[in-house]
Amino acid sequence: MKQIAVVGVGYVGLVTAACFADLGNKVIALDIDEGKIARLKRGEMPIYEPGLEELVRRNVHAGRLTFTTSYREALTGTEFAFIAVGTPEGVDGEADLRYVEAAAKSIAQTMQDPLIVINKSTVPVGTGDWVAEIIREHQPQPVPFSVVSCPEFLREGSAIADFMNPHRVVLGSTDKEAAEKVAQLHLPLRAPIIVTDLRTAEMIKYASNAFLATKISFINEIANICEALGADVEEVAVGMGYDPRIGPLFLKAGLGYGGSCFPKDVKALAHMAEEKGRHPQLLHAVMEINADRRRMAVERVREMLGGELKGKIVGLLGLAFKPNTDDMRESPAIDIARGLLEAGAEVRAYDPIAMENASRLLPEVVMCADPYALAEGSDALMVITDWNEFKQLDLERLRDLMRQPVLFDGRNIYDPDVMCKLGFTYRGVGRGYTGACADDAQSSADPAETEKA
Ligand code: UDX
Repeated sequence: MKQIAVVGVGYVGLVTAACFADLGNKVIALDIDEGKIARLKRGEMPIYEPGLEELVRRNVHAGRLTFTTSYREALTGTEFAFIAVGTPEGVDGEADLRYVEAAAKSIAQTMQDPLIVINKSTVPVGTGDWVAEIIREHQPQPVPFSVVSCPEFLREGSAIADFMNPHRVVLGSTDKEAAEKVAQLHLPLRAPIIVTDLRTAEMIKYASNAFLATKISFINEIANICEALGADVEEVAVGMGYDPRIGPLFLKAGLGYGGSCFPKDVKALAHMAEEKGRHPQLLHAVMEINADRRRMAVERVREMLGGELKGKIVGLLGLAFKPNTDDMRESPAIDIARGLLEAGAEVRAYDPIAMENASRLLPEVVMCADPYALAEGSDALMVITDWNEFKQLDLERLRDLMRQPVLFDGRNIYDPDVMCKLGFTYRGVGRGYTGACADDAQSSADPAETEKA
């Protein structure tokens, strides 16, 4: 049994702490937020993540997981200290490292035994070296330590499964012995372990997230072209995905990426490049295409409502940046709701779990009890988040409750033909839809021409 401290009980920290405890280690999770620690001690989760509450409860009960606000308590007898504090976006798009700095200083001032400090937070390339410098400068007397980068690749909603079944574990350090010890901690996960230098490990994280964001913006660009030319992006993605050089994942066209990672990481990578005099043109295009998705959604609904949003009631199906989370960070819903409000529409919304978080950001939006209450009297509905529960709605009931049966499907969860036959004015994303039901559309030789007509 190894003893591990995890500094920061946000998303990444809490999942990391609970999972390492579940692997049989003794884990002490620390946060300077006393309220958060008190709630965790009572068994209350600060975030929504499927399976987390149960995992925490089980490991607390087994005595493998404890919570504290005291660095002394966390570091006494501890060999590994993970830093998993937040790295929010700073003013110019660079990562704000004040919490990393504070954690490194506190570790330096408290540690009494040799320690391996492991950066889990996504930090700019070079931060590992900087953390080592901070620790060296703030130690009251020299105690040996090493810094290892071990970036997380956790997705919200499946973070526990992602931790337990990683595609790879990336470790960066100049101290090969320390990297080897951290590799041992990960051995039960049976994943490929890549050991490299600190900066390369930090870069692997940014490059991975920027590539995934690029895939999303790429397919969204293709969706735009599909719409203009009368092709169906859903089938294009399937056709592309069978080529193993491309792969089927992250080719879902829609409203673009949101969340706590992709927007922040792409911006931070571009910022790092520019600081060194490079021109990250592709990254800028990725960000621009992503921002356009939100404007496009507002424009589509405006078109579908005959060119006018003023006085119209628009209902948003879903608010979270993706399903299975209550996270609203960088959710397309925010820009879309604001765009609609600015255009004079009345905006309502329903989300299974994100309404509380969303109300704080969007106080003007009226929250509804369920999708049917949302539909009642609405001029248009927009699918913003592809929650499973939206896939099996009683669409006829929804249609009958609406003032006008207009539905913009920002995540392509419905079949255009079915929607058309049900009498909806329906549009998905990148589906070259001409406004006619499939049977009628077949008679149209060139859908692109019909679109123009
Ligand atoms: C992401 C990374 O996947 C994870 O490895 C990293 O460490 C943190 O960031 P997360 O933000 O939880 O995880 O969500 P993810 O499931 O990757 O989706 C990100 C966004 O992209 C969502 O807004 C989602 O709707 C969007 N997306 C994803 C698409 O629009 N199309 C796709 O094909 C895939």
